[in-house]
Amino acid sequence: MEVVNLSAGLSKAAAYRDLNEQLTALFAGERNGLANAANMSALLYQVLPNLNWVGLYFLQGGELVLGPFQGKVACVRIALGRGVCGTAAKRRETVVVPDVHAFPGHIACDAASRSEIVIPLVQQGRLLGVLDIDSPQLARFDQEDAVGLNATVGLFLECSELSRFVD
Ligand code: SME
Repeated sequence: MEVVNLSAGLSKAAAYRDLNEQLTALFAGERNGLANAANMSALLYQVLPNLNWVGLYFLQGGELVLGPFQGKVACVRIALGRGVCGTAAKRRETVVVPDVHAFPGHIACDAASRSEIVIPLVQQGRLLGVLDIDSPQLARFDQEDAVGLNATVGLFLECSELSRFVD
């Protein structure tokens, strides 16, 4: 499928609407959770500006385990409550970190990362994992990114069968 890069002139809200439309097309007729997670990581990495890492962690055996991603190699297991990912998972809330150096316990996978957003994957009250996105730019993510990416995660959860990756 051809991916349309987002026009720099779009507002963030409009850019996320475009992105989520592309994602709906990408998921059409496909419920394989691994395939959808891999394509979602690739699409986000390709169309959102100033990122150095996008990926998923799935909850397995009470800890977060690395899933499909784009970017440099990353730490494989993260305990609930540890780092930005573990914090978002434990709180079941989106966490926006404008400066990762100021976040106690931040886990540095790529030294280039300066800001981060983590969105928990919660389906019918059950925690399934997180979507983690890093940027080399300070304060790259704001409330509009949080809203747009929560819609992205909602689409992913609605369209994907994830039971094999979560226990
Ligand atoms: N920075 C994350 C760890 C995952 S990597 O960024 C890919 C954290 O503090 O949880």
